[in-house]
Amino acid sequence: MKDVKDLTAEEAARELEHLAAEMAKSDIAYYQNDAPYLSDAEYDRLKHRNLEIEARFPQLIRADSPSKRVGAAVKSGFSKITHRFPMLSLGDIFSIEEVEDFIRSVKRFLNTTEEIAFMSEPKIDGLSFSARYENGVFVQGATRGDGTTGEDITENLKTIRSLPLQLKNAPDVLEVRGEVYMSKADFFELNERYEKEGRKTFANPRNAAAGSLRQLDPKITAERNLSMFAYTWGEVSERPWESQQDFFNHLNDWGFPTNPNNTLCRSVKEIEESFARLMEIRASLPYDIDGVVYKVNSIALQERLGFLTRTPRWAIAHKFPAEQALTTVNAIRIQVGRTGALTPVADLEPVNVGGVIVSHATLHNEDEIKRKDIRVGDTVVIQRAGDVIPQIVAVVTEKRSPDSVEFEFPHVCPQCGAHAVREEDEAVRRCTGGLSCPAQAIERMIHFVSRDAFDIAGLGDKIIEDFYREGILHTPADIFTLESRNRGGDDLFSAGTGLHLERKEGWGKKSVENLFLAIRDKRAISLPRFIYALGIRQVGTATALLIAKNYGSFRNFMNDMINKETGKLVAIDGIGASMATDMVEFFGEPHNIEIVNRLLSEVTVEDYIDTTDYNSPIAGKTIVFTGTLERMTRSEAKAKAQSLGAKVAGSVSAHTDYVVVGADAGSKAVKAKELGIAILSEEEFLELAK
Ligand code: IVH
Repeated sequence: MKDVKDLTAEEAARELEHLAAEMAKSDIAYYQNDAPYLSDAEYDRLKHRNLEIEARFPQLIRADSPSKRVGAAVKSGFSKITHRFPMLSLGDIFSIEEVEDFIRSVKRFLNTTEEIAFMSEPKIDGLSFSARYENGVFVQGATRGDGTTGEDITENLKTIRSLPLQLKNAPDVLEVRGEVYMSKADFFELNERYEKEGRKTFANPRNAAAGSLRQLDPKITAERNLSMFAYTWGEVSERPWESQQDFFNHLNDWGFPTNPNNTLCRSVKEIEESFARLMEIRASLPYDIDGVVYKVNSIALQERLGFLTRTPRWAIAHKFPAEQALTTVNAIRIQVGRTGALTPVADLEPVNVGGVIVSHATLHNEDEIKRKDIRVGDTVVIQRAGDVIPQIVAVVTEKRSPDSVEFEFPHVCPQCGAHAVREEDEAVRRCTGGLSCPAQAIERMIHFVSRDAFDIAGLGDKIIEDFYREGILHTPADIFTLESRNRGGDDLFSAGTGLHLERKEGWGKKSVENLFLAIRDKRAISLPRFIYALGIRQVGTATALLIAKNYGSFRNFMNDMINKETGKLVAIDGIGASMATDMVEFFGEPHNIEIVNRLLSEVTVEDYIDTTDYNSPIAGKTIVFTGTLERMTRSEAKAKAQSLGAKVAGSVSAHTDYVVVGADAGSKAVKAKELGIAILSEEEFLELAK
């Protein structure tokens, strides 16, 4: 292959065309047929080559270039698009009788007694879109909006890899419409990440898809892994298809994914079977569907049937029953977390909700129980939204027994009996038992050995709990004496007193040996991990790192905390007064000091060595972050910048060197522009910070 610098413009144009075609083919194979034909590495190589050529010949960048999928510039707002053909909605029905009514009314309208064929299609629970192609090139994308005007999401749609950017043998004007969705797996992954970063999570995949598609910064859309199915059309300059089924074939030829469960039904019976089948596979599909759409297959008949005001006469949505059910509350249990938070959970009489057996529901907190007046013995409506934890929607008070009593939230910890107090303006009540509370002790040890802390894989949650209950482990330091205590029986003086873990059920010599090996391996620990492992409220990994950097050694940090000396702490960018209070409180607790001291006699906490790169391109510069960052939390970004020798400031001034803008950036971005300060996108910052 020729070096890019040796290419003529003509050769470059030819190669770009070839690259676009090749990658489009691969996208189709991957997204439509589920049969990748380029490996990830090959795909990346093509993508890279494409970028290289485009960098040298920017005038040759094609409308359908794969590089367009990474997301164009951030916009200040969505512009409106008026649909040339309105995007209609569908009438809803909920029962088999209504399906029969619908078919009867279609026949009556057409004045026929013959069977009519219908397409049965899963109703994808996503966000509808319209994609306009002119002369085979994708030119515009829109949301449905109110059906008449939608928002311009052209750049966002481009980032969806299953949407073809170029069509062969398509009408000069063609609007393809369909549904953008987020798979259940991607939804959970996204929410998990958000949860970890302390950000607000999405209620269901549909909301996540909507939130991801309607992003002013298409780069964010690009990272979200959205997918789509095409199912209808808007404006077309010609219509070489005779039926809905025929249209699906055309869609596939052009490279659009269509739903593999679309089926042609020739009788009421087949329609009903298709509904039953989709209902059955619903839970196992990788995306959410909320019903089945039936469409008269013949376009000629569709045209005769026409429209009611906002819905077609030739199609209808048969919705699945809501994922709600009635059941009774058997008990209200209070769980106690690592920081002592009491969380109420309802134990329910097991019930089938949309194909899933539900036996627990979260009650969030004390106020939630009060607000909904949920009592033990109540009949309640429970709801499963997508796959999130079931919730109690309401109490059926008519069914309440006359002798039922209001639930009284305990003021003592159900695990240890210590007072459970609720600070003013806090929603949670907390146990004050600290480590004498078994629940907190166990949760804290689980945290102690977790991945970002001591990372001792052999000590799972269940083992910690069992060991605690059996008196083998009380506090984290006990983990490090396990081995010597286990050997107890080997020396003369303590004959027979060993733990002999290898004799326990489920354990053998080998697994015990492996556990000890894993523990020995953690006797030396880095300062940030150690601080994080202590499980101080509000001290996550990023904060632990900041503390490590600024104090250098655990002793320095601990001494300050014991002396309630927080000046140095709150001077750290990213650490506020409320965090400082939590830290001082932690070290003000004699229990905790004892635990920490015992730990320090078992493990070596390595001092933090400053690895700041003072030669980095941003060393010595002052950076301001603003807006919502997508690839990292604000603390991570700050930590990253600081590790490269930059100073991170909270506000923009004449001394600022760079302003890094995330999504929905506000006044700081404006001020930076006014002052002529260099503005970086998150990507550009990451590039600089590499
Ligand atoms: S056809 C005129 N087919 O359901 C017909 N819609 O209330 C237009 N939807 O707004 C829609 N899957 O967002 C059609 N296979 C499917 C669909 C589908 C999901 C959504 C679409 C529409 C709503 C109807």
